[in-house]
Amino acid sequence: MAEIGQDIIQAKKFLESGKLVAIPTETVYGLGGNALNPSAVASIFETKNRPSFDPLIIHTSSLERVNDFVASFPDPLRKLAEAFWPGPLTLLLPRKKIIPDLVTSGLDRVAVRVPKHPLTSELLASLDFPLAAPSANPFGYISPTTAMHVESQLGGKIPYILDGGNCQVGLESTIVGMEEEKIVIYRLGGLEISKIEKIVGPVHIRDHSSSNPQAPGLLESHYAPRKPFVLGDLDSLVEKYSRENKRFAVMSLSRSFDQIGEGLQIQLSELGDLNQAAQKLFASMRFLDEQEVDVILAEKMPAIGLGNAINDRLKRAAAEV
Ligand code: TXA
Ligand code: MG
Repeated sequence: MAEIGQDIIQAKKFLESGKLVAIPTETVYGLGGNALNPSAVASIFETKNRPSFDPLIIHTSSLERVNDFVASFPDPLRKLAEAFWPGPLTLLLPRKKIIPDLVTSGLDRVAVRVPKHPLTSELLASLDFPLAAPSANPFGYISPTTAMHVESQLGGKIPYILDGGNCQVGLESTIVGMEEEKIVIYRLGGLEISKIEKIVGPVHIRDHSSSNPQAPGLLESHYAPRKPFVLGDLDSLVEKYSRENKRFAVMSLSRSFDQIGEGLQIQLSELGDLNQAAQKLFASMRFLDEQEVDVILAEKMPAIGLGNAINDRLKRAAAEV
C-alpha cells in the first residue's frame, strides 16, 4: 500500500531519491518520476507495464522553464501555451539533449505540459527537474481520476500518492504539435479544439492508430475496462441484451431506464453538460466495471465541445485488441 496524503515535502523527497509518486492534475492522476533520471524513467515503464516505444509527457511548473528542455518553440505553439497553460494542453516540441531517449522513445520531439493543480504546481515549482508522468494506471486500463483509483491498482508498487481530490477535467490533455506549417492534434482531450482554433486557426486532426509513427502510444484499444464494453444505441442494446438474459450495466449521458436497477446505470450528466460528463466518465467506467455484469452498454455523446474527446475514449474502450 502507498501512503496517501498531501505532504509536498514528503513527495519531493521520494522524487529526489529516484522513486515514483502519483500526482494529481486537472486531467487525470499521473505517475511521476524524475524525467532527467533514466532509472526513474525506466521504473515508470516497469510500474505501468508500459511498452518502451510509448513515450512520456514531461511536466513542469511554468512556460519559462520549458525553455530548458526544448530546442525551439514555434510561435503558434507558444501562443497556445500562453493561452492555455497551466491547463489540459500538451505540446510536442523539439527536444534538447538533456531529455533522456527513454522519455521520448527516441523521437525528436518531447511532449511537455504545465498542469493545473495547486498541489502539483507547488511540488513542480519546488523541484529542480521536470516530472515524466503518464496516467497512473496499468497500461491499457482506464485512467485514474481519484487517489483511490491509483491506490487500487498501483498502490503496492509506489511509496506515495499525493491526494488532490477528484480531477476537475477528467480527460487526458489534448496533444498538439506542428508538421511543417500545419497545427496537428495528435490526441483529443480536455482542451476543446474550438478553443485551440480561436488562437491558431484551423487544425488538422490526426487519426490515431498504432501504426502512427508520430504518436506510437495512441493504440486503438486503450482506456479499456476489463468487461466487454459495447457502444451504440441504448434502446436497441438494452432490448438485445435483455432478450439474451445477459446481466448488463448502462452508461448514458442523461437518460435513465425504469427497468434497470439504480446501481447498474449511470447518467454522466442529468443536465446533458459535457464538461460534467467528462469529469465523471472514467470513475463511472471503473464503477460499472466492478459490478457483477456480463457487459457494459454505453452511448455516444453529441459531437460538440468535449463530446468529441469523450467519444474518442468510448470508442477506444469498446475496441477489440
Ligand atoms: O493529461 C495527461 O496528459 C496525463 C497527465 C498525467 O498529464 N498524462 C497522460 O500521459 O495522459 P500518457 O502517458 O497516459 O499519455 C501520453 C500520450 C501517449 O499516448 C504518448 O504516445 C503520447 O502522449 N506522447 C508522449 N510523448 C510523445 C512524443 N514525443 N511524440 C508523440 N507522442 C507522444
Ligand atoms: Mg495513459
